Amino acid sequence: MACACRIVAETLDLIEGMIERGIQTRELDLAAEAHIEGRGARPAFKGYRGYPATLCISVNDQVVHGIPGPLRLKEGDLVSVDVGVVCDGFYGDAAGSYLVGQGTDETRRLLQVTRDALEVGIGEAVPGKRVSDISHAIQTVVESNGFSVVRDFVGHGIGRSLHEDPQIPNYGDPGKGALLKPGMTLAIEPMVNAGGSGVRILADRWTAVTLDGRASAHFEHTVAVTENGPRILTRV
Ligand code: MF3
Ligand code: CO
Repeated sequence: MACACRIVAETLDLIEGMIERGIQTRELDLAAEAHIEGRGARPAFKGYRGYPATLCISVNDQVVHGIPGPLRLKEGDLVSVDVGVVCDGFYGDAAGSYLVGQGTDETRRLLQVTRDALEVGIGEAVPGKRVSDISHAIQTVVESNGFSVVRDFVGHGIGRSLHEDPQIPNYGDPGKGALLKPGMTLAIEPMVNAGGSGVRILADRWTAVTLDGRASAHFEHTVAVTENGPRILTRV
């Protein structure tokens, strides 16, 4: 998993460096695929339930699962990039959100709060805590900053498959769900809306967008629970 996750981290770094006004999202996708294959690994999303690309690229009111295509990024766009890699049968999964240019006060704050929520959630990924301690910590950070967590998608266990038990919602009461133990590997992934939590799926059957048309951000890491605390495998 460390190998798959390292390639995930490299890919996100590469794409972050390419994000600029005028680039097409499919150019980002092709660069990501070339990088992953150059490292001897495979994109994990391509072909998963028929998903057609290496990356999910979700712009502005798109929440997750945006399909790369001819869209050109423009000044002020909020771009969420999600990447999964499989290497020797093990999976890694991470996401980040980036601004084209400076953004607005609101989009900058949305990114910071979502990043903070992920960090605080990861901080709960320690032996003896329960899954919903992660959920509750994320929800608290998000809502205390006036934003809302998406409820229609959740984080997940990850390892020999992209999605394993347990599901990790980004909301809930603390102290519930599976007990966290050393060796568990989790994809923790807050999706945060500037406005309401509602989402709908576009006619392409993948792209999730906010109901109110306001912006959404997404950060994700694959994390191992260890005796020494959380180990963030997708940060290298
Ligand atoms: N990070 C997302 C997840 O873990 C991405 C899945 S995209 C899909 O569910 F195409 F693979 F479904
Ligand atoms: Co995931």
